[in-house]
Parts: sequence; C-alpha cells; structure tokens
Amino acid sequence: MDNRPIGVFDSGIGGLTVVDALANKFSNEKIIYFGDTARLPYGNKSSKSIKHFSKQITNWLIAQDCKLIVIACNTASALALNFLRSEFSIPIIGVINPGALLANKKSKNNRIGVLGTTATISSKTYEKTLLNINSDLNVFSKACPLFVPLTEEGWISGDVPKSIAETYLKEIKESNVDTVILGCTHYPLIKPIISQILGMKIKLIDSGKASTEFVEETLRTEGIKANSSNIRRINCYVTDSIKPFSVLAGKFLSFPINSIKHIELL
Ligand code: DGL
Repeated sequence: MDNRPIGVFDSGIGGLTVVDALANKFSNEKIIYFGDTARLPYGNKSSKSIKHFSKQITNWLIAQDCKLIVIACNTASALALNFLRSEFSIPIIGVINPGALLANKKSKNNRIGVLGTTATISSKTYEKTLLNINSDLNVFSKACPLFVPLTEEGWISGDVPKSIAETYLKEIKESNVDTVILGCTHYPLIKPIISQILGMKIKLIDSGKASTEFVEETLRTEGIKANSSNIRRINCYVTDSIKPFSVLAGKFLSFPINSIKHIELL
C-alpha cells in the first residue's frame, strides 16, 4: 500500500480529461496535476524544448513525493517518454501506447486514423507504435493544430469548428479507416463534431482514457495502490495565472478540484 499521490502533467488544462478518467476509476488515489499553462502549446514546439520542459516537471513531481507519473499530454508522450524513462527510475506512463493498443484491438479492417498536434504527428510516434503492435495496419495521420485553441476558447460546436474539422478530416474520411485515435488531450471535447463528420460508425479512441488501464496495472504490479480508506484529492499547480484555469477546468473535469496553486519552475 502506498498513499502517496499520482503525478499527472500536461502542457496546460487539457490533461484534466485524463485526471477525470483516473478520478472515475480510483476513489482513493490522490492526484497532483501539473499544467504548464505558461508554456502552452507544446504542439508546435521543438523536441528539445518538450524534453526539457518534461524533465523539469517530472523532477518537480518527484519532489512532491509522487509514486507514479502519468504524461497526460500526447505531445510530451510522443517526444519525451523514452527520454524521461532513461533519466528517472520512477514508473512513467504515457498515453500513446495505451491508445495505439486499444485502436488495434477495435479496428476490424486494419485501417486506423491518428489526429494530433503538429509535433505529435511529425514525430510519427503513433504510427511507429501502431506498426510495432501490428505490422499489417495502415495508418493515416493528420495534424489538427487549430483544435486546441478552439477548445480552449470553448468553441466546440457550431459552424466555425465544424468547417475547420471538415477541412482537417477530409483525407482521413476518404481513407476508409474504421478507427480514429484522438491523439491530443483536447480532442475528446470536440468528439461530437468529429463523429458527425466521420460518421457514427467510426470508432473514436480516447488515448487518455485508455491509459487509465495501464495506471491500474502499474499500481498493482508495483504494489503501490493506495489504501482503500485513502480519500481522493485533486490538487492542481499551474505555471500561468490560476483564473483562466479555474474557469475552464469544469469543461474537462467532472470532479471537484481541492486546490489550484501557481508555481514557478526555475
Ligand atoms: N496537451 C497537448 C497534447 O495532448 C495539446 C496542447 C498543446 O499543444 O500543448 O498533445
């Protein structure tokens, strides 16, 4: 038994979708969430910067006595997971492998679409991971950079997001995929629009949600589950102002946040 918190980090607020899935699964785990809001977005940054930011945050979460780290950010998972694992001995879970495994399981025709930020798609990490799992897969990837600012603005329905989504999804739609990975923390929020454009039959995979199974498995195999009497707490730390985070948080998370504090990473 280990009542220390699980550390979750993201470039900003979107990783709260992963916290939501974790809070749904575990009523007795404490969660420390780190949102690097001052440096968001990661999706258009270089691999060097993303690795540097991710290492700083992991160090900070370890200093908060976290027992396990979850990289909720797809971009950081795509570019920094292996690097972080080589630098730290604490268990670290990313969202790419869980999302890819679930997509492979769900696809019947072996044709899978991947949507993500520019950095995630350029890294080809989803593609390589999927082909490693099943070399018969055909993978079709598309960067959808405007989905992040749209969801941050709360613009998740109506003509504007729909028209942008139609443009982004045109080739994916024509490629006859039966499964599409929502490879970014923000995309589950515009799932209804994506689904409407691609058609209800297309299976949409939420990588963040898929990663919670891996968290459960790691807690079990490492023997670090919290005691059943431990009480869930969600404590958030952000690198920019607290206000916009607290205003938007409810869109991503259906559980109450116990505290939100500002933090400077030096
Ligand atoms: N959290 C990022 C991701 O999942 C999206 C936002 C960003 O670009 O920083 O890829």
